[in-house]
Amino acid sequence: MTDFIHRFEPATNAGSPPLLLLHGTGGDENDLLGLGKMISPGSALLSPRGRVLEHGMPRFFRRLAEGVFDEDDLRRRALELGAFVADARKQYGVAAPVAVGFSNGANIAAALLLLKPDVLAGAILLRAMVPLSDPPKANLAGKPVLLLSGQADPIVPASNSAKLAALLSEAGARVDHKVLPAGHQLSQADLTLARNWIGNVDAKAA
Ligand code: MLT
Repeated sequence: MTDFIHRFEPATNAGSPPLLLLHGTGGDENDLLGLGKMISPGSALLSPRGRVLEHGMPRFFRRLAEGVFDEDDLRRRALELGAFVADARKQYGVAAPVAVGFSNGANIAAALLLLKPDVLAGAILLRAMVPLSDPPKANLAGKPVLLLSGQADPIVPASNSAKLAALLSEAGARVDHKVLPAGHQLSQADLTLARNWIGNVDAKAA
């Protein structure tokens, strides 16, 4: 199996979609397990640790500065993550997951949607930004995406998250973009909105 340190927790409710949990910079495979359980109780949880280290902090791809990505590395790492998900699906017998990504994890989830649309059944992107300056023409027909941005996010300008929403919509995704009275960190509203969205979304239709 493609080599990612990860945690897997099997589903306790077959009706809940599997989640691919993608942590932020400096996080690890344990970080978002609690969040996953809160927003979708009973889902299978697949939670890899990013393979890039920035001053000892795990990330999913390299960056040149805050918000300035090494796009060659990002493309390569997104494909690597896609291969890991494919292998894990076989090993653990799970359906295509809905990604739940925060910050750096949301950015690689957005890249994965654009580069390998079939890997994910949908995505919850928490504080994501446009990952690629020249993305390929992706076909995301009907894929459900919840994008939650922070009005006062010092890392992701409002224009950037609006551009990401437009990019995904133009590729055919069913994008629900909400801007919350928050910064880069998550708030209670993120949890509530994510839980309600995943409860209503039909990821199998994607
Ligand atoms: C990134 O590098 O993906 C973004 O700047 C978010 C972060 O991890 O701080």
